[in-house]
Amino acid sequence: MAFIDVIKEKAKADKKTIVLPESMDARTYEAAVKCVAEGLANIVLIGTPEEIAKNGEGFDLTGIAVVDPYKDPNRQKYIDKFVELRAKKGMTPEKAEAQMMDDYMYYACLMCKCGDADGVVSGACHSTGNTIRPALQLLKTKPGIKSVSGFFIIEVPDCEFGEDGKFLFADCAVNPDFDADKLAEIAGLSAESFEKYIGAPAKVAMLSFSTKGSAKHDNVTMVQEATAKAQEKFPQYMIDGELQFDAALVANVGKLKAPESPVAGEANTLVFPSLEAGNIGYKIAQRLAKANAYGPILQGLSMPVNDLSRGCFADDIVGVVAMTAVEAQ
Ligand code: ACO
Repeated sequence: MAFIDVIKEKAKADKKTIVLPESMDARTYEAAVKCVAEGLANIVLIGTPEEIAKNGEGFDLTGIAVVDPYKDPNRQKYIDKFVELRAKKGMTPEKAEAQMMDDYMYYACLMCKCGDADGVVSGACHSTGNTIRPALQLLKTKPGIKSVSGFFIIEVPDCEFGEDGKFLFADCAVNPDFDADKLAEIAGLSAESFEKYIGAPAKVAMLSFSTKGSAKHDNVTMVQEATAKAQEKFPQYMIDGELQFDAALVANVGKLKAPESPVAGEANTLVFPSLEAGNIGYKIAQRLAKANAYGPILQGLSMPVNDLSRGCFADDIVGVVAMTAVEAQ
């Protein structure tokens, strides 16, 4: 069964409530209708009757909840929560109300924070930064986690590497600045995410342009330090580095370059040394290897909020809704 079909079955087994705040986009309506028809999640759209009538014209919204932010009986509760959470940042009821009405992503995150929804999917019409900033500000990280990162599940057709061609790539979406501590945390979170979504033991490669000291540079040292920290902090996972991409994936190259490594030649979870590498790497896999790329899925947030590519199709939104619903279970 394809990865996404397994996820959809899991989503159906314990239905969660997912908010789609981008009611200005026709793909949102198409995806919402499909999610409800497939029984993947309870869907909530945010929009005024005028917005819904104009942008959702032609879609049968039976079974989909619509929240009008101007008439919602919970509106004051969300304003109060916004002020409570951001008082130290100078938030006032007036500013909170204006921000929620101006950007429904804030409204959606407050619905989650107040227990009225289980997750949010957005980003078909907004940049990654604008999509995830409200979640970082309002929902914050899980206890003990310092930074949120973003991964893709990459499914490469007819591929002998990874877990039957399935991989996790991180961080592809969030952190422009890395240090060894952040990279070590991303390794632990990625191992956990891989095992949750793929259901197989994670073998985490800390990627570099060097394998086991073959090159000397500050960037290599940073990955070596991150590897040591990750191994110490997450002894329950198989993590090793620094490894070049081929040494991580290809058995005979791994044996040659890192014969003692338990991960070399068998890696399925790839931790990139910078956002540039991770972001470019997943797009190369997607475009040149014709891989399915599911994500970016955010890890480390206290509640599931996930981003979309602005070039996404309605079916991509459906896939991310299913992954978000599983994350919420
Ligand atoms: N984890 C947890 N919290 C974070 C993180 C993080 N990684 N980054 C920022 N925050 C928090 C901050 O602590 C701050 O909280 P506070 O307001 O309560 O103090 C809040 O988020 C805002 O942070 P800022 O420092 O003001 O940062 P800014 O909002 O400018 O940027 C962002 C954060 C949006 C994540 C930024 O780092 C960014 O744009 N990253 C790159 C996104 C991107 O373009 N990715 C590539 C495209 S995605 C794709 O191709 C699939």
